[in-house]
Amino acid sequence: METTLKPETLTQIEALIGLYPEKRSAALPLLHLVQEDKGYICKGAIEWIAQKLGLEPISIFELVTFYPMFRQAPIGKKHVKVCRTLSCALAGGYTVCERLKDILKCNVGGTSADGEYTLEFVECLASCGTAPVVMVDEVLHEDVKLDKVEKWVAETFPNHKSESA
Ligand code: FES
Repeated sequence: METTLKPETLTQIEALIGLYPEKRSAALPLLHLVQEDKGYICKGAIEWIAQKLGLEPISIFELVTFYPMFRQAPIGKKHVKVCRTLSCALAGGYTVCERLKDILKCNVGGTSADGEYTLEFVECLASCGTAPVVMVDEVLHEDVKLDKVEKWVAETFPNHKSESA
């Protein structure tokens, strides 16, 4: 597992562990770093983190299953996050998410069968004034209204094959 992490991630991990008087306190930050690097937390990562912190793997597994932000399966090539918090909800975020689910053929919280997209419904993306917003990987897309969704998908994912194509 260790060798598959980027060198910069390993450096950050070592630095983080050193910040805590009790190594076990670094568990959550380590999980975030590993997920950032690999995209998800695999069984090998759970065992590696546990060993690194002198814990039993079950202690790390419990964290991964308790917190919804941790993924246990790889994500798609494009990570699509639709905001579901108040401003976006009022501006149609729920229907936008439903429409994206149909267009991208991807369940909310899941990955499309072709591995292209992972679709998630997330809390505030800090752009409430331009609701509804959608984030694709690290890029924020503002004002993605329901009537613009088809056009937005065509522009944002030029290789996407629509039903009619
Ligand atoms: S409510 Fe959607 S970005 Fe804040």
